Amino acid sequence: MPARKEPDSFDSQFYKPAETFFPAYSNLGLTYDDVTLATLYSEVLPRDTQLDTTLADGLQLNIPVISSDMDTVTESRMAIAMALNGGLGLIHYNMAEREQLSEVSRVKNNVHGLIQEPIKAAPDQLIGDVLELIAKKRFAFSTFPVVDAEGKLVGLLPGHVVKQRYAKRKVAEALTPRPQVHTLNQKELGRDPIAKADRFFTDHPGIHKLLVVDDQDRLHGLFTMSDVERITQERNAQFKPARDAHFRLLCGAAVSATRNAFGELDRERILSHVGRLVERGLDVVAVSTAHGHTRGVGDAVRMLRDAFPKLPIIAGNVTSAAGVEFLADCGANAVKVGQGPGSICTTRIVAGVGIPQLTALYVASRAARKKRVTLLADGGISKSGDIVKALTLAHAVICGGILAGCPEAPGEVMEIGGKLYKQYRGMGSLAAMKAGSAARYGHAPDPVRKVAPEGIEALKEVSGSVDRVLAQLIGGIQSGMGYLGAANLGQLRERARFIRVSPAGQREAAPHDVVELKTGN
Ligand code: XMP
Repeated sequence: MPARKEPDSFDSQFYKPAETFFPAYSNLGLTYDDVTLATLYSEVLPRDTQLDTTLADGLQLNIPVISSDMDTVTESRMAIAMALNGGLGLIHYNMAEREQLSEVSRVKNNVHGLIQEPIKAAPDQLIGDVLELIAKKRFAFSTFPVVDAEGKLVGLLPGHVVKQRYAKRKVAEALTPRPQVHTLNQKELGRDPIAKADRFFTDHPGIHKLLVVDDQDRLHGLFTMSDVERITQERNAQFKPARDAHFRLLCGAAVSATRNAFGELDRERILSHVGRLVERGLDVVAVSTAHGHTRGVGDAVRMLRDAFPKLPIIAGNVTSAAGVEFLADCGANAVKVGQGPGSICTTRIVAGVGIPQLTALYVASRAARKKRVTLLADGGISKSGDIVKALTLAHAVICGGILAGCPEAPGEVMEIGGKLYKQYRGMGSLAAMKAGSAARYGHAPDPVRKVAPEGIEALKEVSGSVDRVLAQLIGGIQSGMGYLGAANLGQLRERARFIRVSPAGQREAAPHDVVELKTGN
């Protein structure tokens, strides 16, 4: 990297590094749109930039993006998609503990390309019922494995018989019987199941589905040729999936600092649940609350650190240097920064607290450096440029709203006025708190009690898949790094120089004086 010459240059009168820029605005809270980054001489091509980030010993991501632990953002499907792209998903805790365990297992046991819980048909169902299901769930496929009540494979219902004219027939009459269905025993999957399936499809022209069974012939999954082809083509992707030492996808999960009937930290419950999560292969636990600089969160983090010395711990949220130091001293490895910047947050309106995100990140970053913990910029990210700015101070970003419209986010698609939407709600909204997240906001989980919601219930327009959304975001991050001559995220943090933007400058930054035909997304 060329030596940094800027301090003597004329530029440096205007464009300041973080350590001089932010203190100059110590009486003003700044967020992403309030500043812009100055470009620098660069020999770095965006496509050559490295985005890997180490959040703790044993927790390395290949892209610095994490999906938020919210009940309308991250369950196993989202966590799988995030990890496959090199990032991480934090499974939310608005569900029974045993469900959270299964969600984590789904991620850890995921075999890329293998649909592990395919939609099945039963032999005595009518084809008309299957057609109804396809219409209701908007399935884009019409071939279904058929299993009996014990989960044993009976046959395959091919798409060409799933037609209205056969609606009155039973599935059993129309299926391709078991002996003619191609299967693989799950023991034969080996270390590279995709290569195995790929070879199978080459060796069996015309066959587009391969089922996976166990020794008892119970169905355990389905490969489709189109998935396998897509994955084989994507194999050369620059950003590899984020995996653990056993080649399993990384997965995180959030827990809250729950209290027992006496108002004390529910030690036994938290410890035994996290213990079971760890047994299932959990890579990082997040103690997620709206206010992390509290005795309850500190006690929970300390307790987890003592019980699981090697487990990476994320804790938050804070917006002060003292908050970062406190959580670091309790044993957190990564600290979440953000109070009220989220797209569905009303904490600042309801409670009158919170700090605009860039100032919060700067203040937190000085303490993080001292305490050798990493920072996660949580909330308020609406475009890739925000991520570039966040990464000048933090080690990764946590995104909610930007991912909530993806098919991988939990929740049904609904149609309103000809457009498709998905629900997106704050974990501090009344509905989410009733579903379990009240502890995160320091309220009792009793829905009858009067509580002040700190989040709203909203809709997000349905977006493309996580792959596509992340491709856009990553492209933007890499461009930003190219403009700054930063080959990796460490260099981005080092080279960033900021300037405040006027309201006219903000208007200038977005498309203007044109009739927009296509949005940038
Ligand atoms: P974005 O902007 O990505 O923000 O949609 C997601 C982040 O917002 C936080 N969060 C909340 N904050 N009230 C709040 O004040 C809420 O109800 C709420 N729900 C989520 C959380 O940090 C998340 O990652």
